[in-house]
Amino acid sequence: MADPAPVLVLLGGAGDLSMRMLLPSLLHLEMDSLLPEGLRIIAVGRAEGDAASYRKDVRAHLEGHEGLGAAWKTLSGRLDYLSTDAGKPEGARALKARIGEAGLTVFYYALSPSLFAPVTKALSDAGLIGETTRLVLEKPIGRDLESSRATNAVIAEAADESQVFRIDHYLGKETVQNLIALRFANALFEPLWNNLAIDHVQITVAETQEVGDRWRYYDEYGAIRDMLQNHMLQLLCLVAMEPPSDLEADAVRNEKVKVLRSLRRFTPEAAEKDSVRGQYVAGMADGHPAASYEAEVGRPSTTETFVALTAWIDNWRWKGVPFYLRTGKRMAERRTEIVIQFKAVPHSIFGPYGDRDIQANRLVIELQPHEDISLTIMNKRPGLNGEHMRLQPLPLSLSLAKALGEEGGRRRIAYERLLLDVIRGDPTLFVRRDEVEEAWRFVDGVAEAWVAAGVQPKPYPAGSWGPAGASGLIERSGRAWND
Ligand code: BG6
Repeated sequence: MADPAPVLVLLGGAGDLSMRMLLPSLLHLEMDSLLPEGLRIIAVGRAEGDAASYRKDVRAHLEGHEGLGAAWKTLSGRLDYLSTDAGKPEGARALKARIGEAGLTVFYYALSPSLFAPVTKALSDAGLIGETTRLVLEKPIGRDLESSRATNAVIAEAADESQVFRIDHYLGKETVQNLIALRFANALFEPLWNNLAIDHVQITVAETQEVGDRWRYYDEYGAIRDMLQNHMLQLLCLVAMEPPSDLEADAVRNEKVKVLRSLRRFTPEAAEKDSVRGQYVAGMADGHPAASYEAEVGRPSTTETFVALTAWIDNWRWKGVPFYLRTGKRMAERRTEIVIQFKAVPHSIFGPYGDRDIQANRLVIELQPHEDISLTIMNKRPGLNGEHMRLQPLPLSLSLAKALGEEGGRRRIAYERLLLDVIRGDPTLFVRRDEVEEAWRFVDGVAEAWVAAGVQPKPYPAGSWGPAGASGLIERSGRAWND
């Protein structure tokens, strides 16, 4: 007899994440015939509704997406909807009845993190978590180390770590995976990838978007918990980790954990010197007047919508190399980039002009919105420059979109890759429990140091590069952001 069909249960199936990311990703996977045969998708939500109204709702959200012909027809045939509270015993029982006989069962928690533990408990008590179950949890897991541990402990009681897939969607991005290729498939960089040749590293994740409707969640978390604890520290790990023995899931994750463990803990003195919190006030964004964060929330708030800090990795490779991290909402432009700033030549032979012209090499890896890698190289300025040679930096530049053209294919939503990996059971691009907890240990240290030192968010106008202090943070050491 054939195995029963697999089931994907979208807990929070009518919510923002499902509608904006998961269903479009599923549609794209359907277009490419990558979903397993017979897969059923059961969306669960507290809102009233049935399969027909849910399909209509999803169809409206997918407007404008490719694949609304045949692929949508097949996908909509898979969709079902159950209106219930899966965190309650009767809700979990109703879900069990709806799932019926199933093979692989994936529960995707597109839910507020505070529901992870109660929902897991309810599913487990209803006998819904067995050997063929996988649990997919969205970041952030917890709000600090303690709450993260408590959630992870409830999950560990219900399922084995190998069944738990913690999502950090940055790891599903093609450009982020490309970092591994860039570092470990090119002999050129690795010998220079250390404190002998690198002066500092910058990681910027700037968004132009406001917090808007998500303020209820965001106001409790702020930039440090929403972005730094996960996406930014994951990028830092991929830049800083030692070469793994192979690409097997635990080999990569072991190396990332070592980096997180080596992060120097913040002290109150460091909080004042090495970090800046900001919150946007009214300004201009994309040429239009933009409201302040507090106007969106509707009351005064001390949550940061911007954070910049200097992180130090205390190990052999990175001793003395500052990692400047910066992220914020409502910034001047949308840009995610990693800058590797190499050291200057030890001695200039180019005389007074050359000394002034010469700049250290800089490798800029732009992940969003463009996928570009460029390395600035010093060149001679053409022409008869008088008695001294004049120099100028020029980029050796690789636009991945141009270089790969058609072969680069459609730009995929990060969740496409991750959903597929969950179904296939490949955990490489998911975050292991100890990684999440180590990242919280660092972030808790920063948050505690902020409280001890009384570091409050400084205002910055919407549409700017953050509070003035963010420039000061890096300029104090004679360096500058790559703006
Ligand atoms: C999410 C954060 O994890 O990542 C959001 O909760 C943020 O606040 C988003 O906007 C950014 O993702 P991306 O893929 O647009 O860079």
